[in-house]
Amino acid sequence: MKHEICKIADIPQTGSLIAPFFGREVHVYRCGERIRAAANVCLHFGGPLDCKDGRLVCQWHGAAFDMASGDRLDGPAPKNSRLMFLSTRVENGALNYVWGE
Ligand code: FES
Repeated sequence: MKHEICKIADIPQTGSLIAPFFGREVHVYRCGERIRAAANVCLHFGGPLDCKDGRLVCQWHGAAFDMASGDRLDGPAPKNSRLMFLSTRVENGALNYVWGE
């Protein structure tokens, strides 16, 4: 099954697009040729993330995550925590969340 997240044309070359996702939000961004979609949720206490200098940084207590790998780089989120990436597929000019395939 699939659910459209956004149009590919709407994803900026740098930074991220925040797209609605079933009542929540995802950061959608380009990593080289790849497009990634990460839940806008910090792995500390769930705060919202800002896209800053190639990192996603939590507004609440400053945890920082690498946008490519999802790894925690800094701050109070657990040392081995990672961003929650969605499984996606590009189809007909759109990025889709896919599951159950
Ligand atoms: S909720 Fe993100 S650093 Fe605390």
